[in-house]
Amino acid sequence: MQTQKLEYTDEVAQATAPIFEKLEGQYKEAHWKTLAPYIYEINRLKKEKNAVILAHNYMTPDIFYGVGDITGDSLKLAQVAATSDADMIIQCGVHFMAETSKVLCPEKKVIIPDMDAGCSLAESITAEDIRKLKAEHPGVPVVTYVNTSAEVKAESDVCCTSSNALKIVNALGAQGHDTVIMTPDMYLAQNVANESDVNVLFWEGSCMVHERFTPEDVRRMRQQHGPDVQVLAHPECPPEVMAEADFSGSTSQIDDYIKENQPPKAILLTECSMSGNIAAQNPEVKLMGTCQMCPHMKRISLPKILKSLQTEGPEVHVDPEIAERAKKAVERMLELS
Ligand code: 13P
Ligand code: SF4
Repeated sequence: MQTQKLEYTDEVAQATAPIFEKLEGQYKEAHWKTLAPYIYEINRLKKEKNAVILAHNYMTPDIFYGVGDITGDSLKLAQVAATSDADMIIQCGVHFMAETSKVLCPEKKVIIPDMDAGCSLAESITAEDIRKLKAEHPGVPVVTYVNTSAEVKAESDVCCTSSNALKIVNALGAQGHDTVIMTPDMYLAQNVANESDVNVLFWEGSCMVHERFTPEDVRRMRQQHGPDVQVLAHPECPPEVMAEADFSGSTSQIDDYIKENQPPKAILLTECSMSGNIAAQNPEVKLMGTCQMCPHMKRISLPKILKSLQTEGPEVHVDPEIAERAKKAVERMLELS
C-alpha cells in the first residue's frame, strides 16, 4: 500500500477549525497541526467506504469529536450497531465492543484499529467458568456484563451494561427469580445488590481502572475543592467509593447528568478522557481532581484508525454458532432495557 504524506493544508485547517475551537485549550496549535490531517483524511475515507465510526466515551477528544459518527456508552454503541446501514464499522473502543457489533451485525465488516485493545474484566472469565457456575447453581439466571468475550456471552442468559444492570436484575426478579448470578464484575454486582431485593451472586472480576479509586480519595478531594463539588462515579467502582458519591451511572449517564445539572465543580471517578469530552460541551462546569487511564482504550489513535480504514483491517470475526447464541443474550438485554 502506498503511504501518502499528510499535510496541514488550508483546506485541512478550514475543515477542522470548528473541532479545534470546540476543544479550546485541550490541544496546543502545534499538536493540532499534526492531528488535523488525520481527522480530515479519516472523514474523507469513511464516506468513500460507507464506514461508520463508533467512538466510546473513553476515546480521546480528537477521536471523539474529530471522527466519531456515533458516540456514547456501551449500550448506545450496541444499539446503534444493530441498526446502522453502513457497510463497515470501525469500532473505536475495546475488543469486546467490536465483538458485540459483529454479533449484532454479522453481515458487516467490523474493524478495530488495535486488536490488542482488551479489557481486564473480559479477561477475568471464560466460557468454561460460566458453564461451571451454571452447573453449580441450576436454574439461576446468569447476567453477564457486556465487557466479556462473545464465548462468555453465548453461555449466559442475558447481558447487561452499566446503564441497565439494575433494571435487568429487577426484571428477572419480577419474573420470579429470587437469585441471579452476575459476572464478571464483582463491584458492579455488589452495587446492584445494594439497590435490589434480588439476591446477587458474583464472580471476582474487576476493572483495573475503576478499582483504583478509594473512599479516602473522594474525602480528600471534597475537602480540597469545597462543598459545591459533585462527585460522579462509574458503577465499576468499589461500593465504599460509590457510598461517597453524589451520583452513579454509566459513562453516558454521567455525561447526561452533567449536561442537565451543570454543577459548578465536578469530580469524575472514571477514565481520564471523559473529562476532556465533557469539558468541551460544558464550559461552565469545572472538572477537578483525579482520573485513571485505561491502557486498552488508549491503544486507539488517529493514525491507527486511518490505517484500519485504508487496509480494512484488522477485522473482528466471531464463530457464527457462538455469535448466534451470544446474540440471544444481547438481544434479551436490548428487549429488557
Ligand atoms: P459504559 O457502558 O458505562 O460506557 O462502560 C464501559 C466501560 O468499559 C467502562 O469501563
Ligand atoms: Fe475494561 Fe475497565 Fe478499560 Fe472499561 S475501563 S475497557 S472495564 S479495563
